[in-house]
Amino acid sequence: VVTGPGILRRANEFLRREGMSGRVITISSRRVWRLWGARLQSGLGKRTSEPILIDDRESRKNLGSVEAICRKLARVCADRSSTVLAFGGGVVGDVAGFAASCYMRGIRLVQVPTTLTGQVDSAIGGKTGVNLAEGKNLAGAFHAPRLVLADPLMLGTLSQQEFSSGMFEVVKCAVALDSGLFRFLEMEGGRLDRLSPRKLCWVIARCQRAKAQVVSRDEKEDGLRQVLNFGHTVGHAIEAATSYRELLHGEAVGWGMIAATLMAIGMDRLRAEDGARILRMIRRVGDLPEIRGLSRDELHRMIGRDKKSLGGRVGWVLPVGIGSAAYGIEVPEELVRSAFKDMAVVYRGLRLGR
Ligand SMILES: NC(=O)c1ccc[n+]([C@@H]2O[C@H](COP(=O)([O-])OP(=O)(O)OC[C@H]3O[C@@H](n4cnc5c(N)ncnc54)[C@H](O)[C@@H]3O)[C@@H](O)[C@H]2O)c1
Ligand SMILES: [Zn+2]
Repeated sequence: VVTGPGILRRANEFLRREGMSGRVITISSRRVWRLWGARLQSGLGKRTSEPILIDDRESRKNLGSVEAICRKLARVCADRSSTVLAFGGGVVGDVAGFAASCYMRGIRLVQVPTTLTGQVDSAIGGKTGVNLAEGKNLAGAFHAPRLVLADPLMLGTLSQQEFSSGMFEVVKCAVALDSGLFRFLEMEGGRLDRLSPRKLCWVIARCQRAKAQVVSRDEKEDGLRQVLNFGHTVGHAIEAATSYRELLHGEAVGWGMIAATLMAIGMDRLRAEDGARILRMIRRVGDLPEIRGLSRDELHRMIGRDKKSLGGRVGWVLPVGIGSAAYGIEVPEELVRSAFKDMAVVYRGLRLGR
């Protein structure tokens, strides 16, 4: 993983350093390509070719898009010496990564994440995949990138809402894994969408390191890696129940972290003061959109379907302190229900400020 402002311009140098000599086929979205394509092309020098552009809406993160990419790869005669370069946010990374994992039974992958979520989370760790109508990320593969290039300069063109969506994943990382990062963010005060570039770069590298450490100890998510799913059980359920259209991923995770924090307090696994610190931090990321027209029963049903529920039993990830989470926790039904009932009220009661 290479992180730094301006490194996009040196893409070819890093590819060569990793011994990647064959063709590079870029997969991106129209928007990302329009904004940053020229910069990537100049960084890749002579190795560029026409990119494969995909629709990167979450609702199009499906097997159809993977098939379309594989067919295009076949038509441009990509072979086993070719490299897929995923250039975009988490959707492009997940879809292009999955295509790279199955085209010709797997070709090389380079991730060049262009969103905060991508740089701190989705491009790290080798998980790729797509959604099914039955649930989020239900079809996929582990396919580790040979190289990740994260250039924070590219985040300058994200909307505030998209930036905040990534910041929820940063908070997830801090709560579940890194108390030092959490304290750093607390010291910042104010809203978290105004970090200086230098601080942002530090935060990104810190998240990448924390995630990489966990992943290196549990690549296939048999255990420890599950802590990275803090906020995601409810988050994924909200996304699926709203057909991936109403909230950004990070926003759904924001709601999920609130619910899980309330459950942790309710189970006496988390001190109320620490719970309050976590909730305040979530509030400082940005405004969470309300979840309209989603009944609690529906949420329940979607959670039962989530792939992390083994044999109908949901293994919850709960914060048990600042920088530490437990996984596989069984939460009593009534606590789950009251967390769903209370989360919107609790959120609205949180004051923005230092
Ligand atoms: N594989 C993993 O481990 C993992 C981890 C976390 C999230 N994810 C997945 O990532 C996805 C969310 O990713 P995301 O939050 O990056 O959103 P996204 O990929 O949907 O991108 C959001 C929007 O921003 C645009 N965009 C991207 N970069 C831009 C830039 N630099 N400037 C302006 N616009 C830009 C995109 O075109 C898109 O319209 C979800 O599908 C989630 O499941 C995967
Ligand atoms: Zn996530």
